[in-house]
Amino acid sequence: MKGDIGVIGLAVMGQNLILNMNDHGYKVVAHNRTAEKVDEFLQGPAKGTNIVGAYSLQELVDKLESPRKIMLMVRAGDVVDSFIDKLVPLLDKGDIIIDGGNTNFPDTNRRVAALKEKGIHFIGSGVSGGEEGARFGPSIMPGGSPEAWPFVKPIFQAISAKTENDEPCCDWVGNDGAGHFVKMVHNGIEYGDMQLITEAYQFMKDGLGMTHDEMQSVFIEWNKTELNSYLVEITSDILGYKDTDGEPLVEKILDTAGQKGTGKWTGINALDMGIPLTLITESVFARCLSSLKDQRVEAEELFGKKESIVEGDKQVWIEALRQALLASKIISYAQGFMLMREASNENGWDLNYGNVALMWRGGCIIRSAFLSNIRDAYDIDPELSFLGSDSYFKGILENSMSAWRKVAAKSMEVGIPMPSMTSALTFLDGYTTARLPANLLQAQRDYFGAHTYERVDKPKGEFFHTNWTGKGGDVSSTTYNS
Ligand code: 6PG
Repeated sequence: MKGDIGVIGLAVMGQNLILNMNDHGYKVVAHNRTAEKVDEFLQGPAKGTNIVGAYSLQELVDKLESPRKIMLMVRAGDVVDSFIDKLVPLLDKGDIIIDGGNTNFPDTNRRVAALKEKGIHFIGSGVSGGEEGARFGPSIMPGGSPEAWPFVKPIFQAISAKTENDEPCCDWVGNDGAGHFVKMVHNGIEYGDMQLITEAYQFMKDGLGMTHDEMQSVFIEWNKTELNSYLVEITSDILGYKDTDGEPLVEKILDTAGQKGTGKWTGINALDMGIPLTLITESVFARCLSSLKDQRVEAEELFGKKESIVEGDKQVWIEALRQALLASKIISYAQGFMLMREASNENGWDLNYGNVALMWRGGCIIRSAFLSNIRDAYDIDPELSFLGSDSYFKGILENSMSAWRKVAAKSMEVGIPMPSMTSALTFLDGYTTARLPANLLQAQRDYFGAHTYERVDKPKGEFFHTNWTGKGGDVSSTTYNS
């Protein structure tokens, strides 16, 4: 009997996905560039299973049922191109290559188009949930050649995480690089969620002087509220984790955040498309700032930074912080969905936002109860342009407003950096202001560069130039917007 699917790349994610597929009754052919890895896998975790090995790409191809489905679980970038180049001459028309790595979506756009010309179908799929997710149920976000989806769907939906109603956290996202685009936004939101949690932690630790056990209890309680999520849950575990000397391990970890690039891509894409994705972008910059450790140490001394003590009833502050965190999180998701909407319109992807929320409901790093409410919001209005306008989320934003402002103001007053929570509030203030000061900005542009402006008392699209000084000419520059 031939194999149902081939997987190339036997690092931890690849191995765990294969074992997951095997658990669901699929016959998987496993290949790795170095042959020893194949043997190690077959004699180790795959021993006693239905999994078979392939020591060359030809052997892999020969051992697969048609149309062949070959999933690459290798490092994103050139390695993917190099495997594609080697595979294509061995494949038949209608065969399917799947890239399950964290690929930047323009690469997937390019690969889908290039392989289409050769009659090969290509799927670029986000896979989220880390090692455990891969093994027991990840969130899977596939996009690319739609013709390939019916062949891959049963396998992916079987191995994916399921919601509480047993719906698979995997569905077709859209054409081209839509799957990898949605995974990129997922990761951007992951950056935002993580940053918000760290801001709450710093406020509690430095501002309120709380112990790690106290903070752990707070996160345990928060996890029973609308904030219920994987990231809040692991934060409570981390805060309670003691090093061998009985002290909290988290305080011994260097405060310099790493990043592999997906958050940065999200920010760059938002700038490219002109979407105010402020919270995620601030979260990326917060990681950049954290990496300037030596400079920060010097600057703290240079500026003689004082302790940032927050006076007042601790319990009242903790509840205010919970509300500020929840409201900021709503803004972050609202911005992320705005970005997806713009990309969907621009690329003709026809994204289904309710389905995206469903795919993120389980298995992935940002899984949370909250995503069910997002799904409900898009069920009510599939064209919702701002998540915060949905009545459930609007209610939370309104109820949290005063606590959120208190936390933001206090953080500024005592000097606790909360870039994401405060930028979320600033965004909402801007978004809910019908008249912003951009009129003055337009005047400045016209004053120094004759860039022209539109008038509130004339139809949109009519442009005016004023000779502000009486010295410049009446000739305006060409009007275009990037
Ligand atoms: C996931 C994660 C994963 C990501 C890591 C590390 O969905 O399972 O998003 O894909 O690579 O979380 O990302 P950074 O190194 O950029 O923090």
